[in-house]
Amino acid sequence: MRVLVDEAHGTHLYFSDQLPISGMKAGADMSAVSLHKTGGSLTQSSLLLLGPAMRGDRGYVQQIINLTQTTSASYLLLSSLDITRRNLVLRGHATYQRVIDYADYARREINQIGGYDAFGDEKSDGDAFFAFDLCKLPVHTRAMGLSGVEIYDLLRDEYDIQIEFGDLHNFLAIMSVGDRPVAIERLIAALADIRRSFGCEPATDLVNEYIRPVVAMTPAEAFYAPSESLPLGECMGRIASESVMCYPPGIPILAPGERVTPEVLEYIRYAKEKGSKMTGTEDPAVEKLFVLLESSGNGSCDGI
Ligand SMILES: Cc1ncc(COP(=O)(O)O)c(C=O)c1O
Repeated sequence: MRVLVDEAHGTHLYFSDQLPISGMKAGADMSAVSLHKTGGSLTQSSLLLLGPAMRGDRGYVQQIINLTQTTSASYLLLSSLDITRRNLVLRGHATYQRVIDYADYARREINQIGGYDAFGDEKSDGDAFFAFDLCKLPVHTRAMGLSGVEIYDLLRDEYDIQIEFGDLHNFLAIMSVGDRPVAIERLIAALADIRRSFGCEPATDLVNEYIRPVVAMTPAEAFYAPSESLPLGECMGRIASESVMCYPPGIPILAPGERVTPEVLEYIRYAKEKGSKMTGTEDPAVEKLFVLLESSGNGSCDGI
């Protein structure tokens, strides 16, 4: 079996020993690296890296790529990849050391403001939180009473600062090759201002971050079973045949085959109220949900 790594956010891992291990170093056979994300090339340009074990298979990989991709390659994107590759080979180590230093500085300053928890490497345990990417700036916002989505929106609308994402309890800024000290200072100042102008008491009605799923049947069984679309309020206790996710992070609140519980409904209500982008349902407003017809039974793995 070949191991193919999704290393979309991993360009910089190849240019510092302080960063988590790269796909190739970990022994992957292939790795898809979105050079445009943290490397600085034009959007949509990326690389497929092949490890030493693939040496004899290059022709086969090319053949498969030819099946799915255009024969009219974009020379704009190819040139951008090549310029970025050259730049990283010559200056990558110094560049990412600077980025790591900026992110460390931002973390310290943001933690001085109060209300924000700009966490870092101290959280990694080599297990579920395997390692921390020092170029990322994730910030937990619960203590200041605003969701990550609200801070994301405020930064964009009031301060002209575009960050990566906000979810219910966190936001994420990514430091990369294009960042300069003035941008970091603007971000820190904007966060201090948001805390002063919009911060409030930590929400007490906040739902849990983790919902234990009540699995009634397999996702495939539920997805293909006869179903009906009902207003959310009428779905309590029924088995979902579609999923509901907040994006980001894109982890299902409810997956096909799971029972709709009061916690699930509360989480959906809260996420919508906080302005989270909801996906997964046929109804884009997530007012209605597809659930199994009651005659479709209770499923085979109730209580798992
Ligand atoms: C984990 C992960 N994999 C893959 C992709 C897609 O990468 P690209 O936009 O280069 O196709 C993304 C994009 O955000 C991503 O976050």
